[in-house]
Amino acid sequence: MKKWGILTVCLMLAGSMLAGCGDKNKEGASTADNGSNQANAKTIVLGTSADFPPYEFHKMIDGKDQIVGFDIDIAKEIAKDMGANLEVKDMDFKALLGELSSGRVDFVISGMTPDENRKKEVDFSNNYYKAEQAVVVREKDKDKYKTMQSLEGVSFGIQTGSIQEDIAKTIPNAKITGLGKINDIIMQLNSGRVDASIMEKPVAEAFLKNVKGLAIADAVPDYQEDGYAIGVKKGNQEMVDQINKTLDRLNTEKKIDQFVSEASDLAAKK
Ligand code: ARG
Repeated sequence: MKKWGILTVCLMLAGSMLAGCGDKNKEGASTADNGSNQANAKTIVLGTSADFPPYEFHKMIDGKDQIVGFDIDIAKEIAKDMGANLEVKDMDFKALLGELSSGRVDFVISGMTPDENRKKEVDFSNNYYKAEQAVVVREKDKDKYKTMQSLEGVSFGIQTGSIQEDIAKTIPNAKITGLGKINDIIMQLNSGRVDASIMEKPVAEAFLKNVKGLAIADAVPDYQEDGYAIGVKKGNQEMVDQINKTLDRLNTEKKIDQFVSEASDLAAKK
């Protein structure tokens, strides 16, 4: 019975953003065309957790599973400005900082909040975007969760290693199930194995467009969001400067807002 529940959710989302169904921890790599695919150009490797529409997600385009989203658009611009080819490595969110420190990826763009703990481990660019948090529940339970107090003792599906884990830990008696990919959280919510989750509002909205039966609750987590930034290996100031230059250019050209709206449209498309 359980298996069928999961399969149904996978099927419901087939072709949209759950391309990872069934092969959870598989790490995927793909080469993205950033318009500078030259034979002799160097390749820079992006680390991301592609479970986060509209930031980074899987989408079938022309019959091919591709990693897209506005973080990926930004990564392509960075590679272009460096005259490099871009390779995208998809992994669980919690693996990203380790991969960066060990040099297996050159930079991380993954809707990542540059919080104090992470700043000890890696360096960050300037912030490039900002979003609020949202509590996601089953639609039929929406009225139960109007305040943060009403979430006390509730079971949460939370992405391991995310700031949402810290937020959930502040809720008295919350039972937290840590999961590698947000797709799995959505499935567990849908099948009733957890009762709530916390994620960035644009991400919640993107999933809700494609998944029936879920809703954003009125309860709003009390979290001082300080935006998203791009991570690089500690001490690599050259890469930070390079990335900030590209972000400045994209801001001046109003490109980031354009990427966000294009990626949101793409995430909503069946
Ligand atoms: N902003 C949150 C954090 O930095 C969540 C990011 C999750 N990103 C992802 N691609 N799943 O912890």
